[in-house]
Amino acid sequence: MHPVEIKKDVFWVGAVDYTSRDFHGYSLSPQGTTYNTYLVKDEKTVLFDTVKSNFLDTMLCRMSNVTELETVDYIVCNHLEPDHSGCLPKLVELCKPEKIFCSPLGKRSMQAHYDTEGWPIEVVKTGDSINIGSRDIQFIETRMLHWPDSMVSYIPQDKLLICNDIFGQNISTTERFVDEVDRAVVEHDMVEYYHNIVLPFSPLVLKTLDAIAEMGIEIDMLAPDHGLIFRGKEDVQWCFDKYREFAEQAWKKRAVIIFDTMWHSTEKMAYAVAEGFESEGVPVRIMHLKTDHHSAVMTELGRASAVVFGSPTHNNGILPEVAKMLTYMKGLRPQNRIGGAFGSFGWSGECVKSLSGSLVDMGFEMPVDGVKIQFVPTHDSFKKCYEMGVELAKALKEKCGD
Ligand code: FEO
Repeated sequence: MHPVEIKKDVFWVGAVDYTSRDFHGYSLSPQGTTYNTYLVKDEKTVLFDTVKSNFLDTMLCRMSNVTELETVDYIVCNHLEPDHSGCLPKLVELCKPEKIFCSPLGKRSMQAHYDTEGWPIEVVKTGDSINIGSRDIQFIETRMLHWPDSMVSYIPQDKLLICNDIFGQNISTTERFVDEVDRAVVEHDMVEYYHNIVLPFSPLVLKTLDAIAEMGIEIDMLAPDHGLIFRGKEDVQWCFDKYREFAEQAWKKRAVIIFDTMWHSTEKMAYAVAEGFESEGVPVRIMHLKTDHHSAVMTELGRASAVVFGSPTHNNGILPEVAKMLTYMKGLRPQNRIGGAFGSFGWSGECVKSLSGSLVDMGFEMPVDGVKIQFVPTHDSFKKCYEMGVELAKALKEKCGD
C-alpha cells in the first residue's frame, strides 16, 4: 500500500472503497468512493482525518511507508462523521499524539462518538493557527458544511486547503487527481455528490465561497475527504465555479419526470407528458422509481428545473416509492423548481392532490393543474397529459428567459 506524495512532504494515505454502494447510509455511490487522509511531515508530523473503520489496515500500511506511527504528533479532525473518524480510537492508541485538534462542536461530537478519556483534545476556532515547523495550519470552521462540527485546514506555505466533505465526489480510481480523469466523469460525480449531500446547505456554500474570496487566500490545491484532488489554480477555480453554479440553482431548460406505476397506466401518462416537453424543445428524462435509485433522481434534478411526479392512487394516497422519493427530496431542499403532477386512479383518486401538496410544500411553483385519469388512459387522456407537458415546458422556458 503506497502513499501518494501530493505536495513535497504531504502524503495521501487514505483508502479506496471500490465496492461500497452505500454512502453515508442514505445515498448511492455507484462508482464507490474514497476516504482521503493526509499526512504532513514537518518538524511536527500531522495526520488530517482518518478513514472508515474497516479500512484501518490499509491506512496504517500506507502511513507506515511514510513514517513510524509513533512519530505522529498531531491529529487534526476536520469532521467527525465515522467515515473520517472511525479509526480515531485506534490511531490515538497507536500514535499517542501530543494533540488532537478539532472545532468546538467537533469536541462535543468526538465525546459523543468515542470514549475520549485522557485524549489530548485541543479546540480550535476560525482564525486560530498553529505552527508545525516550516508550515502553519490555519483553521476555518464551516459549520453545517455539512455537519455542525465541520472545519477546513489551510496550509499557506503549500497553498493547500484540506476541506473534508466539501468539494468531494464519490469515485474510486487508482488516479488521485482530477486532471488525470475524464472531466465529464468528474463533473457528473460532483453533481451527484452535491445534490445528495450538500444541496440543503447551498446558502452556506455561497457564503463560504465569498469568504474564501474575501480572505484572499491563495489555493492551488483542494484536497477533499472523498474523491479526487483538485491540483493547480485553474482546477481549483473550476471546482469553485461549479459549486457556485450548483448552489445558485439557476433556472435550467430541462425537465425530469419521476413516477411509479401499478398496471402501467401512470407509466403511459409519463411518456405522453414527456412528448409535450419534447414538442417545446425542452429535454426531458423519465425516471421509474422501481429501477432508478432516489440518489440518481436527485442527480438528474441537479440538471433540471421542471420536476413532474406521477403516481397512481393507492389506499387513498400514493405509492410508497413515490412517497419515499418526495421525503428524500424535501430534506434536500431544492430551490427554483416548477412542478407538475399526474396519475391514474380506480375509485377515490387522491394521487394528484397528494403529489401537488407535497411539491407546493417544498416551495415548487405549480403553473399547471395536474391530470388524473380513471383506470386506463384513452386518447383524450394522453392529449391532456401531452398538453400538460407543453404548458409546463412553456412556463419553464419563461423562467429561463427563453
Ligand atoms: Fe464523508 Fe460527512 O462524512
